[in-house]
Amino acid sequence: MNAYLILNGPNLNALGQREPDVYGHKTLADLEKEIKAFAASRGFEVTFRQSNHEGALIDWIQEAEGKYQGLVMNPGAFTHYSYAIRDALASLSIPSVEVHISNVHKREAFRHQSVLAPVMNGQIVGLGFHGYRLALDYLESL
Ligand code: DQA
Repeated sequence: MNAYLILNGPNLNALGQREPDVYGHKTLADLEKEIKAFAASRGFEVTFRQSNHEGALIDWIQEAEGKYQGLVMNPGAFTHYSYAIRDALASLSIPSVEVHISNVHKREAFRHQSVLAPVMNGQIVGLGFHGYRLALDYLESL
């Protein structure tokens, strides 16, 4: 059975309460429940992790090698400036997809750039929680 790691970065623990006009009213626990039900219906496993700390995310990315068939990551604001996370992703041999709940291109200019996307397989933005499902579907298709 394929297994995928889903990482959520800083402030995503505040989903539901954080800027609901941008991110909606559902919580991170709701996301985890939805994605786990989706995984069960498709016959694969997912492991969910969230941290507000860059180093914790890097440790999990490094540990994913050989343990999972792919990585789905919403890196939060680290997307826009973390070269340390980029280096960790660049050394992964498993496929990875960047997901953003909001449409970053409709928002502030600093959100238009991802320093991570060039070392990942692809990027899904602006489709809400559905982006995580699409990313998993893509990984399953490989
Ligand atoms: C986000 C977009 C980022 O710009 C922001 O810093 C986040 C969430 C999203 O899911 O839309 O924390 O990654």
